[in-house]
Amino acid sequence: MIELMKAEDLEQVLEIENASFSNPWSRKYFLNEIENADLSELYVDIIDGQVVSYGDLWYMFENCDLTKIAVRPSMRHKGYGRKMLKHLISTARNRGCEFMHLEVNVNNKDALALYEAYEFETVRTRKRYYENGDDAYDMIKGLIQETQPRKVLAIESSCDETACAIIDEDLNVFSSVVTSQIDVHARFGGVIPEVASRMHVEQISTIIKEAVEKAHLSMDDIDAIAYTIGPGLIGSLHVGAIGAKSLAFFYNKPLIGVHHLKGHIFINELIKPLQYPMMALVVSGGHTELVYIENDQSFKIIGTTLDDAIGEAYDKVARVMKEAYPGGPVIDKLAKSGQAHYQLPTPKVDGLNFSFSGLKNAVLQLVKKEEAAGNEINKSDLAYAFQEVALNTLVKKTKTALEQYPCKSLVLAGGVAANSRLRELMNENFSDMDLILPPLKYCTDNALMIACAALHYLKAEKFVSLDASSMPSMSIED
Ligand code: KG4
Ligand code: ZN
Repeated sequence: MIELMKAEDLEQVLEIENASFSNPWSRKYFLNEIENADLSELYVDIIDGQVVSYGDLWYMFENCDLTKIAVRPSMRHKGYGRKMLKHLISTARNRGCEFMHLEVNVNNKDALALYEAYEFETVRTRKRYYENGDDAYDMIKGLIQETQPRKVLAIESSCDETACAIIDEDLNVFSSVVTSQIDVHARFGGVIPEVASRMHVEQISTIIKEAVEKAHLSMDDIDAIAYTIGPGLIGSLHVGAIGAKSLAFFYNKPLIGVHHLKGHIFINELIKPLQYPMMALVVSGGHTELVYIENDQSFKIIGTTLDDAIGEAYDKVARVMKEAYPGGPVIDKLAKSGQAHYQLPTPKVDGLNFSFSGLKNAVLQLVKKEEAAGNEINKSDLAYAFQEVALNTLVKKTKTALEQYPCKSLVLAGGVAANSRLRELMNENFSDMDLILPPLKYCTDNALMIACAALHYLKAEKFVSLDASSMPSMSIED
């Protein structure tokens, strides 16, 4: 998340500053910048407690100076510089600035490429500007926009969360409201579709109203209405569809039917820009897929599960252990204190496909056998054994997929992306590429993810009509 820098960020910022500039700013200088927040603003991007980049703006009436952007050395070339620049441009614009000015070393190719990509123009060269004799370019970008970034209101209701969010094309988040039915379904040990639909009906109108109010907007400010068209529980999908269609009809707005899993993928854009071609490992309650994404409009499933989805396997294994629904977080926690004790078979499926039902059945057999023998099951050890086999299979297949389909970035998506051991394994195995792990709060279903995906439909003008059907088993390729 990008936020104003605080004194507590100083140590990390100084570390990056010293590694980035031959004439680094001092501690005192940074503290001064933080204190003079009305004339200058220093922003930091913090991900999982780590400062990955920072950027500084000075305001002078209708003008502003971009004094610096720096990215942590180990995080360079992954899009964080672009993300910070985009944020600073949009902040300055919102503050009413008409121009942004900066100076850049003519030999700093990375920085020049970044500024040119954002349409900064060189207005003059300052000879021997830097101490080492290097020249600097003066660059300027006009900030006045002919058109405002368009805003999308999105609704998610495919399973057991009712949610509504509003976002604009510059990825400014106006609001995101989610209510979960999980407590109710937990009593039944799983999602009861009919109960889910009824609860969506009860929630949907207030959730939409809340999202619009929290955004301090009216429906006139919204440029398109998006909703999850599939996959998901049909009754639940219908409630979101009716909500979205009513708004689109009444306010005469274009309607966008979003694929739920594209939402899980594109929410990662709130972390940083995605680079293509990209591989997505989609791991949710209903899906386990390897998706090759050549560009934002082209999705190819290169591996999928032949039976149970990974999240489903987690939930069923938890049930066998008489643990609460949803099982994923419970097993994740139990496995932390587990040890290698039980042996479970590694699923054997050729190619890039997955299968988890054999593993799930092996857990069931093991529990029955131990019970019959009068032995108590060590739940932590069993959770550990199940998880190691299941997750290492995911990692192995992802490696093979990347050998066959070389990619710039790898993104983890879906509810199971919250799993702590999977995140650890991904970091261990794919640190040599641009790996994107969604923050925990974005792993569970929400409407912000549908809004992020909807922007790509909007860009391609992919709209649906008011008579569009919901598609409970829609493929991401459709
Ligand atoms: O993406 P999601 O919200 O639903 C679908 O779109 O299908 O994913 C829900 C799934 C559930 O099966 C849940 O048990 C699993 O994600 N899950 C986890 C964890 N947190 C949620 N699985 C493993 N470890 C977790 N920490
Ligand atoms: Zn989901």
